[in-house]
Amino acid sequence: MHKRIEKNAASIRTFRIMTKDILTNDTFRTLDSYEHHRYISILEHSIHVSFLSYLLAKRLSVDPYSMTRGALLHDFYLYDWHDRNPESKTGIQLHGFKHPKIALNNAKNHFDINAVETDIIEKHMWPLTLHKLPKYKASMLVVWVDKYCSFREIVDRETRNYVKQLVLEVYSFGDR
Ligand SMILES: [Fe+2]
Ligand SMILES: [Fe+2]
Repeated sequence: MHKRIEKNAASIRTFRIMTKDILTNDTFRTLDSYEHHRYISILEHSIHVSFLSYLLAKRLSVDPYSMTRGALLHDFYLYDWHDRNPESKTGIQLHGFKHPKIALNNAKNHFDINAVETDIIEKHMWPLTLHKLPKYKASMLVVWVDKYCSFREIVDRETRNYVKQLVLEVYSFGDR
């Protein structure tokens, strides 16, 4: 087992309880069928970002509930961003600007979303979306956690191994 998984076993258990309704939602689980990067699905990336957000929230005295759940839903946009829209000349380029709003609408359709969670999802692409400045400390933190996790997933195989194990651990519900 990965050392970081062993070290964080208790936090993983709490994370699982805190997010179980999202993790077990059938629509949310379809995120595993969409690629984020070559080796990582949107589901894996979302759990990576969300669990690191949870660990940071505890350290930085931010409400862990909203930060963790907002981070888990930040990329809940439900399509493959690599697919070009044949009706749009610029479809793929606009994904970066458009997907936070799509993810937010999907999140609202499936879950009860509070103001902090809304802000996290809607503003997570800042500063690309210049006019969408994060309002809360939790939203600003997720902006950078998302970028950090994406970078590590792309450049570091060890991180990808860790993320795959983390997802297995998170989904190992005792009552399944
Ligand atoms: Fe995103
Ligand atoms: Fe992301």
